Formats: sequence, structure tokens, C-alpha cells
Amino acid sequence: MPRLIDPGSAPAPIALDEAVETLIAMRFDPEEDGAWDAAAPVLVALSANRDFLAERAIAELTGASPGGRDHYGPQVIMLARGPHNWFLRANMWPAEGDAILRASGRAAFFYDLPHDHNFSFLTVGHHGPGYESDYWDYDGEALSLQSGDTAALRYTGRHQLAPGRVMLYRAHRDVHDQKPPSAFSVTLNIMESSGREPWRNQYRFDPASGRVEALLNTTAIEGLMPLAAHLGGGNGEDLLRHFARRHPVDRIRIGAMRALASTAPTPDARHDLLAEMARIDDPAVSTAAIRALAEWPAVRAWAETPSEAGRVHLP
Ligand SMILES: [Fe+2]
Repeated sequence: MPRLIDPGSAPAPIALDEAVETLIAMRFDPEEDGAWDAAAPVLVALSANRDFLAERAIAELTGASPGGRDHYGPQVIMLARGPHNWFLRANMWPAEGDAILRASGRAAFFYDLPHDHNFSFLTVGHHGPGYESDYWDYDGEALSLQSGDTAALRYTGRHQLAPGRVMLYRAHRDVHDQKPPSAFSVTLNIMESSGREPWRNQYRFDPASGRVEALLNTTAIEGLMPLAAHLGGGNGEDLLRHFARRHPVDRIRIGAMRALASTAPTPDARHDLLAEMARIDDPAVSTAAIRALAEWPAVRAWAETPSEAGRVHLP
């Protein structure tokens, strides 16, 4: 489970501005050893302030908030951005019967979606009973997984983010499957925002098998590649071929290959492109291409037909 941090004795409440100024004054850097432990009392002192969040919400509803709403989804109020690599936010966690959960569905709040994080963050239970999660941990720092790959997840139990409890979620270490709290709840977070997040994968897992069910990243580049493939002509194809072979991030190389394959003019051209990619000296791309080829109807039919040599086992 995430690392529990004891923030010490109950601190005096502080204003949001004070919290930001304190973190800046202490040169808080989430990438430095000990930084999260040092920041925890500041987050807890902010949480001891029982007024600031309601005042902020009302200011946003009446249009009086100076910065306006930072669009990070309906679940989140962006509170402040640090100078470099962190920001403060509040997260809302609707309960089972709340109208917003019925209207938007559980996935909109990440309920029942076992996932890791491609960033670290510190969280405190600020209001309400707090959500529960089933937790696993795994050693994901050096892994670059694709859908269907497996990781060794270790179950560490079900725990509740109760009021005042402080947890450090560690990037590519802590996996959780959140459940709606018994009543509307709010957490306050200090989030790592180092700029690495777009290039680090975030996964949705099937904990029973440890299998990656999906990559959760949606960055601008992944939206732009299909545009380049569909509308970019020869320049777009050249760029995507370059990305498919040279981009340093597996996910982007594979995405470029898929964008190219999706716009191949004929089935034969698509097959030839996947076959070409299946032979390149890049395990991530070639495996993805082989998996795509395995879905080809003729290949599937051939593989599933028993022969004297026995069945072929597709990846
Ligand atoms: Fe999460």
C-alpha cells in the first residue's frame, strides 16, 4: 500500500497561500529524498483549515475566483501550481448514491479500475469518511509494459483514506482499486509534476492475473499521430515512420505504427506494413506488430487449424 506518513502533532491551520509559500520557501522538490516527509505537515496544516476549500468552491461557482477553473476534470479543483514540478489540488470522491456518480458513472471517478500512477503524490483525507482501496505493490520503475504483458503484483490489503490520514502514492509502485466512500469525501493532494509523466506509462491492471489491461495515458502526441496519418500525406507518413523506429518511448513507437497501419490504403498494404514492423529489431514494436498480425483473419484461421505439426501458439 502507499507509504503512511505520520505528520506529527496536530498543526495549526494555515491558508492556501501560506501552504504554497511554505513549500516554496523550503524548496520542496518531489524528486529529492525526504521531500514528501517534509511536505506532509504543510499539507496537514492546510487540511486543518476547514474554510478555504468551501470558499474556493463558492468563488469558482460565482465567477469570483482569480484564476478561474483549471480544467482537470469534474472531480478536481486545482488549488495552486508550484514554481517547477508540483501542484496542489483537491479531489472529490462521490458516494454510491450521489447524483454525480449516477450521472457520470464509476469509471469517471476511477472506481473499480485497478491502476498505478506515473507520478508520485501525497494525499490526506480532508472531509468525509474517505474512500477505500484494495492495494497491491509492484516493482514497475524499470518496466515498460504493453497491454497483455504481466507484472508481479503483491496484494497488501484493503485500507481506507480516513480523515487526517496521510499516504504517499509512489509512481510505478502502488496499485489500487478504489471503491466509493460511504459518504461524499474530499482529499487534498500535493502532486508531482516533473514533466516526465507523458513519457511514463500508466497502467490499468487485472490484479487476478497481473496482466496489463490497458495503458491509461492520453497525451497530445497520441491524439496528433492519427491526425498526421489521416491528413498528413507523405510528410505525415515520413514522420510517423521516423517515430515508429526512433522515438525513445515504446508507447509512442507502437502508436505511430498503429496510426500508419490504420491508414494503409488496402488490406494488403496494411499487412505488409505490419509484417515489416514485425521484423524490425525492436521487441516492443515487433511484438505489437506480431499481435496485430495474429488478429488477421487468415492468420487466425491458419493458427487455429490443427495440423500434423500441432497447433501454432500465437502470442
Ligand atoms: Fe489512483
